[in-house]
Amino acid sequence: MAEAAIALDRYDVRPLSGALGAEIRGVDVSNLDAGGFAAVHALLLQYSAIALHGQENLTDDGLREFGTRWGKLDVHGYSRTVPGYEDVLLIYSDAKRRSAAEGWHSDVSWKEIPPKISMLHARQVPAVGGDTFFASQYRAYEDLSDAMKAFLDPLEAEHDGRNFDIDLIRRPATHPVVIRHPETSRKALYVNRGFTRRIPSLPAGESTAILDFLYNHCTRERYQARIHYEPGTLAMWDNRCVQHSAVPDFGDEVREMHRVAVSCDQRPSR
Ligand code: SIN
Repeated sequence: MAEAAIALDRYDVRPLSGALGAEIRGVDVSNLDAGGFAAVHALLLQYSAIALHGQENLTDDGLREFGTRWGKLDVHGYSRTVPGYEDVLLIYSDAKRRSAAEGWHSDVSWKEIPPKISMLHARQVPAVGGDTFFASQYRAYEDLSDAMKAFLDPLEAEHDGRNFDIDLIRRPATHPVVIRHPETSRKALYVNRGFTRRIPSLPAGESTAILDFLYNHCTRERYQARIHYEPGTLAMWDNRCVQHSAVPDFGDEVREMHRVAVSCDQRPSR
């Protein structure tokens, strides 16, 4: 994309940390012309996770429509959905029911082709808390020693979705431990505590030790930012270079989010 031609200054953009993330005001995703779309695309590639505040009027149809501008929508297949929409997940917590999104993960990395982008629309937010943490997997990779990078670069890891359906253990997906982002060409770590199970080319003890090291390393505070939601915030993140974790710090209050994810047209690769 020719970045020089994109007017990135048309919106109010505030970075969330030195590692990744930005919150953006002035965008209306329901009425985004080609220039506005190109600017949001460039901002997502630059910051990896963005909060587009002020989308209070976005309906589920509007969310799907905006999602479809980025590609075909992913059908998760195992999570609760908004009635009538197989591709809009309902992420809902209250005093009786907690959402399952706590814990670091990259969305649906247990599929052969995981979604490239996820979008989370805040429908009802608690008075305090309920943020989402993000961690830059570019930064986490770039900080490793050359020796560790050379060791990890050729490895592959298995991921499975046993958290959603025990049968998915039988259908693990294998992805490189280090992937190259197809749009930015930057390398990123691609293992996560939620879904990665083992590095099959290593003995079990070595696989566990390396993965434990990577899980701790790739979610260090120095790689993080958190998105704070207002009613109507639309968070978007790039699963090819970030992991995320919901923060369950809002007691018994209601938190209702609607999520769509955009399919990728290629497997994660080096
Ligand atoms: C998710 O993991 O997709 C949802 C994150 C959140 O609820 O904050």
